[in-house]
This record gives sequence, C-alpha cells and structure tokens, in this order.
Amino acid sequence: MEDKKKILYSGMQATGNLTLGNYLGALRNWKTLNEEYECFFGVMDFHSLTVRQNPAEFRQRARNLFALYVAAGLDPEKNCIYFQSHVSTHAELSWILNCYTYMGELNRMTQFKDKASKHSDNINAGLYTYPVLMAADILLYQADVVPVGKDQLQHLEITRDIAQRFNGLYGDVFTVPKPYTGKIGAGVKSLQNPEKKMSKSDENPNASIYLMDDADTIRRKFKRAVTDSDTQVRYDVKEKPGISNLMDIYGAVTGKDMKDIESEFAGVGYGDFKAAVGEAVAGLLAPMQERFEEIKNDKEYLDRVIGANDEKAFYVSNKTLRKVKKKVGLTDRIK
Ligand code: TYM
Repeated sequence: MEDKKKILYSGMQATGNLTLGNYLGALRNWKTLNEEYECFFGVMDFHSLTVRQNPAEFRQRARNLFALYVAAGLDPEKNCIYFQSHVSTHAELSWILNCYTYMGELNRMTQFKDKASKHSDNINAGLYTYPVLMAADILLYQADVVPVGKDQLQHLEITRDIAQRFNGLYGDVFTVPKPYTGKIGAGVKSLQNPEKKMSKSDENPNASIYLMDDADTIRRKFKRAVTDSDTQVRYDVKEKPGISNLMDIYGAVTGKDMKDIESEFAGVGYGDFKAAVGEAVAGLLAPMQERFEEIKNDKEYLDRVIGANDEKAFYVSNKTLRKVKKKVGLTDRIK
C-alpha cells in the first residue's frame, strides 16, 4: 500500500524570518496532507541566493528552517525533508529545463517584476530563472500535488507548462503537478497594509507576525493592525480589507467561517476582536515554538536525519534526472 501513495512536494526559502503567512498558507497544509501523501519538503537554500545573504546567518537560518519543519509536526523519519543545495540533481535539471523555457514566459512572472523593482541594484539572472529551478524541484520528484500560498500559483503554472512541453517532445517523462491552496489562509495580508501580502522581507516588523514572536509581541502587533474607521466586524475585502484579513486569520486558526465570526463579534468594538485574534494566534504558535526550542540545538539528531534524507532525495530525484538526460540525448558517464 505504502508505495501507492501519491506524491506531494513543497518547500520554503531559507530567507528572512518565517511569517504567519508561510504557516497558514503552506506549512499547516503540509501537516494536514501529510498522512495521505508521500511527502518531500525542501529547504530551498539555492533559491535564497538570488538575494545577497550573510553566510554565517544564512547557514544558521537554513538549519533552523529544517528544525522548524520538524517542530511544525513533520516527522523527518516519515517525510523526506532535505536541503536543496545538498542534492545536485536540482541544479542539473534546472539547467536542462532552462533550455526548454522561453524568455517570454519568464518575462510575465509577477514575482520577478516585483523583486526586480525592490532590488534594482541586484537584478541577477538567478532572480530571472528562479521559476525554472522551482519547476526542476517539483518535477524531479514526479509530484502530483504542490501545496503553496496564492503568491506561488503563477510559478506552478509555468511548471505545468514546462512539464507539458517536455512531455510533448519526449513522451511522459514528468508528472504534471497540481497546485493545492487551502480555502482559507492562502493569501494572508500585511497587518500594516492589507493591500499587500504578509512577507518575510517586509521592512516594517509590525506588518508581519513572525513564527517566533512571543505572545506579547503577537498581541501588540494585532492591536496595532491597520483597520478602518467603522466599528463593525464584517467581511468585505473591498471596503474593509484590514478587518477582512484579520477575520481570515481568525477563521484559519479557529476553523470558524466568516458568518460565525461576524455574529461572535456583533456589537463588539475592534479592540476586543483584535485581542481575540492575537490570543488565538499566540495559542496556535506556542506548541511549535516550544518544540523548536527543544530540537534546534540537537545537532546529533538533526545531522542524522538531514544526512539520511538528503540521500533519499538524491536517490529519488536522480531516477528522473537520468531519464531526462537519456531523452535529450546526453551520453552516459563511463564507469
Ligand atoms: P516562500 O519561501 O516565499 O514561501 C513559502 C510558502 O509560504 C507561502 N506564503 C504565503 N501564504 C499565504 N499568505 C502569505 N502572506 C504567504 N507568504 C508566503 C508561499 O506561497 C509558499 O507556499 N518559490 C517558493 C519556494 C519554493 C517552492 C519550490 C515551493 C522553491 N521551490 C517548489 C514549492 C515547490 C517561495 O519562494 O516560497
């Protein structure tokens, strides 16, 4: 039975402090889908190089991201959780797929345009071909489903296009993956500007709830969240984007729908509502934070599971890579 499970693939960049958006949009769904699929989760450290990193901090952050996946409840003995940069197949397939991707397609990527405008001093080629590396990540593992937040859907589309193009030329080499976004929490917005997504690269720390924020900080940030001059807790993304974002967050954490939330807070001011959201989020994150503190310094345990999973990831992904190399006509290495 085990090997009949469909395959799930996802990952996060090891850049900056993870936010509640990363948790509600991705990590939480990984956990929910975990039993049903055979799962591969990458610490996407190659992707992080598109922005300059401080090497020592970056190294630590990547290790911490691995520990955080585990703290969120993903068992590294049952899931293949590994470092992208430890598995050479990613860079190799990425190069090959670059030759099957058109600049016209990459020119349309909104995340590239957005990042290029933010880092105008460093618009490197990696930033531009980043979606191709992401396609390689996913296609190497023949993933059926890729749980991501809404901001990654365009990258999933290009992945599907590349896979279909390649299959059209060479036969069924790749599984064409489907995205998975939760009904709620797939697009968490900034607490300071609800028109923008909550992002780990936001310069204003009050705009994001970081997964390691303590309870007081979380309460304070929600208290300061930008809303409107009305007093009614009502779901209306256009007219009341700030309140609607807080309702989305509250709903994602408690499982309540928007109507329930509206009646729960009918006649109550924004202050009480914000306090309730803060409490709910602090309660959600506390167990993961505790577990993270327990494991992050357990070097022996982390090294053991990282080593084993890196190897598994290489073994699985290399099967696809070998097939691809053969299909495109690259010669075998002589042993
Ligand atoms: P990254 O690291 O920016 O984000 C990791 C995951 O968190 C989701 N996310 C959000 N969801 C809801 N609301 C938000 N405000 C929010 N912000 C982020 C993202 O959609 C993502 O699912 N390119 C990817 C990493 C990656 C990857 C992959 C993902 C590389 N290769 C292969 C899946 C499969 C990225 O930068 O995600």
